[in-house]
Amino acid sequence: MSIIMAVKGLKEEIERVLITPEEIAARVRVLGQEIARDYRNGAAKDPYGRPLLVVGILKGAIPFLADLIRAVDLPLEYDFMSVSSYRNGTSPGEVRIIKDLDRSISQRDVLIVEDIVDTGNTLDHILRLFRARAPASVRVCTLIDKPVRREVEVPVHYVGFTIPENVFVVGYGLDYAELYRNLPFIGVLKREIYEEARVANR
Ligand code: IMP
Repeated sequence: MSIIMAVKGLKEEIERVLITPEEIAARVRVLGQEIARDYRNGAAKDPYGRPLLVVGILKGAIPFLADLIRAVDLPLEYDFMSVSSYRNGTSPGEVRIIKDLDRSISQRDVLIVEDIVDTGNTLDHILRLFRARAPASVRVCTLIDKPVRREVEVPVHYVGFTIPENVFVVGYGLDYAELYRNLPFIGVLKREIYEEARVANR
């Protein structure tokens, strides 16, 4: 990808906006209310009654998590985990921990916050890792669900938006080659951006 492209202005590289900042904000408010209601009404299983632990999966979940936690009217803590998925050159069977959680999740109520569930492979591996650490409960909240590409069934309790088509989306944390995460909306990249990057990476 050329430097010129990056300084040109990100919005010029978007073919269409799928979800506006206003739609995101409205949906995040509703999700926050649902989560607070559920954990007040039986979803919390921690035998010691400790606060909900929200775990953001780096880096894509950052903007979503930052907005979501402020919409959840509950005592909560948050932590982050970074994993390398197969998109970074590994096979679908492999997910490596790049940054682990700071604290134990044993007997805690954990809410995993993801940017997008696509094939489901990454989340499936994360869930296995988490369950091996014996939390009291695990739920998943994803900003975007792309069920058309699912290869592994994964339990997702809270979904921001379902995208019914197979499109690659960027913005509000979602990237293409580490760019576009700072767009305030979620959109589809112009085709020539992919093509140009493919040629440059040859
Ligand atoms: P999965 O393992 O196929 O479910 O993919 C999970 C990861 O792939 C996500 O956490 C994203 O980093 C990336 N990904 C999948 N689809 C998209 C997309 O449309 N835009 C940006 N990243 C995506």
